[in-house]
Amino acid sequence: MFDPANVSILIPADKISERVAALGEQITADYKADERVPHLICVLKGGCMFLSDLMRSVHLPVTIDFIAVSSYGTETASSGEVRMTKDLDQSLEGRDVLFVEDIVDTGLTLSYLTDTFRRRGARSVKIAALLSKPARRKVEVPIDYVGFEIPDEFVVGYGLDHAERFRNLPFIGVVTDPAAV
Ligand code: IMP
Repeated sequence: MFDPANVSILIPADKISERVAALGEQITADYKADERVPHLICVLKGGCMFLSDLMRSVHLPVTIDFIAVSSYGTETASSGEVRMTKDLDQSLEGRDVLFVEDIVDTGLTLSYLTDTFRRRGARSVKIAALLSKPARRKVEVPIDYVGFEIPDEFVVGYGLDHAERFRNLPFIGVVTDPAAV
């Protein structure tokens, strides 16, 4: 297993699998109770691993789509401006959107996306995030399904990157020596 020396494990792979399976069961039960089927929208690139595991734990005929976003520079990020670099393939009209996101940090990305998608005619919009860093929040976004709340540390692995690396680690880790990355 690729296990770089400068990354320390914060959440091991088996804990992630357990938690993702539990989230899948909860999502299945909630949407079944409402007689709805979620349209899973993966926020690229970080959400890719979470989506692929989560969708296998949701026992409903889900559909999926992908979106990619990037934040403007830090000076404008506080205004909540987010640039869409890849839009959806399918219309949202009448769909029950469930965002599948790696991490909610300031909340700006998901606040922008949920507002935009409601305007585009989604019937409901919910959020599933593997991780949440509440200490960093600038905008309150209701997270319907959260895997783990973590402290204010920069994490990598399970889809999350540092300068595009470490996405393939099967665990969530903290870069202990950023200079060595
Ligand atoms: P937000 O808009 O500040 O909530 O940030 C959302 C995006 O910032 C996430 O989807 C990640 O791509 C990135 N991000 C935030 N914190 C981390 C981290 O600790 N590691 C890697 N990426 C992060």
